[in-house]
Amino acid sequence: MDNVLIIGAGAAGSVVAKKCAMNRDVFKTITLASRRLESCKKVQADCVTPIEIAQVDADNVAETVALLKKVKPDLVINMALPYQDLPLMDACLEAGVHYMDTANYEPRDEAKFTYKWQWPYHDKYKAKGLIAVLGCGFDPGVTNIFSAYAQEKLFDEITQIDIIDCNAGNHGKAFATNFNPEINLREVTQRGKYWKNGEWIEIDPLTISAVIDYPDVGPVKSYLIYHEEEESLVENIKGLKQIRFWMTFSDNYIKHLEVLSNVGMTRIDPVMYKGNPVIPMEFLKCLLPEPSSLAEGYTGKTSIGCIVTGTKDGQAKRTIIWNVCDHAQTNKEVGAQAVSYTTGVPPVVGAMMLFKGHWSGKGVFNVEQLPPQPFLDELGKQGLPWHVRDLGPAEQSDLLTVKT
Ligand SMILES: NC(=O)c1ccc[n+]([C@@H]2O[C@H](COP(=O)([O-])OP(=O)(O)OC[C@H]3O[C@@H](n4cnc5c(N)ncnc54)[C@H](OP(=O)(O)O)[C@@H]3O)[C@@H](O)[C@H]2O)c1
Repeated sequence: MDNVLIIGAGAAGSVVAKKCAMNRDVFKTITLASRRLESCKKVQADCVTPIEIAQVDADNVAETVALLKKVKPDLVINMALPYQDLPLMDACLEAGVHYMDTANYEPRDEAKFTYKWQWPYHDKYKAKGLIAVLGCGFDPGVTNIFSAYAQEKLFDEITQIDIIDCNAGNHGKAFATNFNPEINLREVTQRGKYWKNGEWIEIDPLTISAVIDYPDVGPVKSYLIYHEEEESLVENIKGLKQIRFWMTFSDNYIKHLEVLSNVGMTRIDPVMYKGNPVIPMEFLKCLLPEPSSLAEGYTGKTSIGCIVTGTKDGQAKRTIIWNVCDHAQTNKEVGAQAVSYTTGVPPVVGAMMLFKGHWSGKGVFNVEQLPPQPFLDELGKQGLPWHVRDLGPAEQSDLLTVKT
């Protein structure tokens, strides 16, 4: 296997294409396809080795199947939007191509994050001898693999996972989102949710917070939100009693979000304007900066990881596993900010795992179901070094005492 097709030439997809082009020993043939050929041309010009480009509307299964038959890739990496997950999975099944993505399917008219649409493809992929690897970005993605690594190597039993995600960067804009604005705002404005003692507990958006001490960044107020990897980790980490996801948002970001929500600009249902239906969130996306345009001048770091609590050899234990990524450094390397970089590098490593035979299987798998060690061995070499450290009893006290 050495032929990869990347679909979606946006902020994160461009990182995937550029990093694949830096690893020609693994990726002999690289094609980048997107809705607009213009987007692909820009990325192609910045790749260090030649790549092919193509135009495709990934919502259209027949069009995608025709492209797959022409390019004959071994793997499709879906870097378009969650709306395209199901049509791309259907196209891969029809053309006999392995599939990978970084975010679970969402219907356009409902901001709902669940694997219930993609997991039922398991038997169809299995019957065709194909693998679909779901959620191979950073979170979901590397955070799931950190959890699998903790389960396999560091703990006898895991009782609690706190996934912690901090962007301590500054892009200098009044308001912008670090990945696709529509998808980002749908994620943040939905109700919060976490899992405890076998139950999902819902909360109003951004109503529980804690100060988390992020490696290389320091203490930052973080909000409990729902994130899709919780759904699969609950299934795949044995003994788990609680899982929560925490993300930092600046006061400025929250102020803008509140105003936009209050005036209805984050609505995803159509509103009639001068006789035409307009979806406020889609219109808002057009006004906001493209995430790929934020890289120049972006300063600061992301610090993302897992705090895992459990036991080893009969002793209580708490461990943090994390990566820190610098916006200016990733801009220098591939012309992208760190959020696009941390999203784009993991699927390249995941594709390497499939092409080198470290990951295999027939059916639909979340990344924590695949061997973590070879992935983590490669991750640092591809630009995302990771670290692990046991925590002392007094560390992260605010996070660990907050009532949930
Ligand atoms: N797991 C993680 O860690 C993580 C983190 C952040 C984001 N993500 C996922 O990554 C996705 C991409 O994020 P991003 O920041 O790169 O967004 P982006 O810059 O908006 O890029 C999305 C790209 O998808 C392409 N696209 C949209 N509809 C298409 C269609 N019907 N057919 C073909 N291409 C289509 C667009 O192509 P054109 O430019 O050609 O119009 C656009 O370039 C997000 O939506 C999110 O789900 C995952």
